[in-house]
Amino acid sequence: MPVILLYSMLFIVHLLGACQSYSDVSSTAGLEMSGYRLSDYKGFEKKWHLVTVRYRKDTGELRWVYANPRAFKALMNHATDYPDGAVFAKIALATHDDPEFKASVVPGGVRRYQLMVRNKIRHPDTGGWGYALFDANGRTLPENLTTQVQACVACHSLVPKRGLIFSQPVSLVPMNPSQVALLARDFGVRLEFTSVDVAQLPDLVRAQCEGIKTVRVLKGDLQDHLFQGTLDEIRPTLALEVKKSGLPSLLMSRDGVRFSGVFLDPKGKSCEKNGGHGTEMKSVHSLVGGEQPIYRMSFCHEDSIPSVD
Ligand code: HEC
Repeated sequence: MPVILLYSMLFIVHLLGACQSYSDVSSTAGLEMSGYRLSDYKGFEKKWHLVTVRYRKDTGELRWVYANPRAFKALMNHATDYPDGAVFAKIALATHDDPEFKASVVPGGVRRYQLMVRNKIRHPDTGGWGYALFDANGRTLPENLTTQVQACVACHSLVPKRGLIFSQPVSLVPMNPSQVALLARDFGVRLEFTSVDVAQLPDLVRAQCEGIKTVRVLKGDLQDHLFQGTLDEIRPTLALEVKKSGLPSLLMSRDGVRFSGVFLDPKGKSCEKNGGHGTEMKSVHSLVGGEQPIYRMSFCHEDSIPSVD
C-alpha cells in the first residue's frame, strides 16, 4: 500500500476518533467528575511520590498509588485528617506474561485512573475528599456519577483512622508476616457478615444458590452504594469469609438487583496451576443494567502469603 494512502487512511481514522470523543463528552461519557479532570493532573506519575503497589491475583490487575508532596508528607506522619490540597492518584493496569520469560509478569495497558482530592469546603458531603474515576482515556464511566461517588465513599469510610486512605507507604524493612496479618485484621474489623437463610434472599440471588441453605451476607453502607467496581473489588473479602465460614458469601444491594457472591467450587481447576495449593472458588456477580447478564469466573483463593523464591 502506498505510504501516502496509508497516511490518509490513518488521518480519517483519527478524525473519526475525534468525532467519537466529542459526541461522548456531550452524551454519557464526560471528562469531569466531582469537578476534576484527569488532565488537571497530567504527568502526575512522573512528579509525585509512588506510595505503594498492589496486585489483584484474581483479576491480574496491578495498581500504582501516588501522592502529591502534601499528601505524602501527611501520610508519612500517619495523618488521620489530610490538609486541603493533598491529592492521591491510583493507576490500574492490566498485566500479561513477558513472552520471552513467562515466569515474569509485566504491566500492560492502563485500565483506569482514580483520584482523591482533598478540599474540605468543596466536598463537605463526602468526607472532605473529591472522588473521581476515569477510563484510560480520561473519560468518566457511563454509570451515574453520584452513584459512583457514593460507592467510593462507602468503601473508603472503612478506614477512618487512616483519614479514609487505604494505602500505606511501602516499607523496605525485612518482611515481618505478623505485621501483614495485623493490617488485614484492621481492614476486616469493620466488615460484618451475618448468616442469612437462602429462602429470604431476593429471587435473582436465590437463583444462584441452588442446593444451599445458608449464606453469609456482608452488612453495612456498602449495600447502599453498589456500583460495578464494588462488585469486583469486594471479591477477595468475600473469598476470605467463604474460607472462614465454609459458606457462600455475598454482598448485595438492598433492592437485590446488584450482587456479588463467592462460592466454593469443588469442580474448579484453577488451583492446578498453583500446584494444588489454595481453595477452588467461583465468583458470580450481576452486571450493570439490571437483572441480566450475570458474570461468572472461577479462581483459586490462596490464603497464605506465598513463599518468596
Ligand atoms: C470496595 C472498596 C473500594 C471502592 C468501592 C473504592 N475503593 Fe478506592 N481503594 C480501595 C482500596 C482497598 C485501595 C487501596 C489500593 C488497592 O488495593 O487498590 C484504594 C485506593 C484508592 C486510592 C489511592 C489512595 C488510597 O486510599 O489508598 C484512590 C485515589 C482511590 N482508591 C479512589 C477511589 C475512587 C475515586 C473510587 C470510586 C470511583 C474508589 N476508590 C472506590 C477500595 C475501594
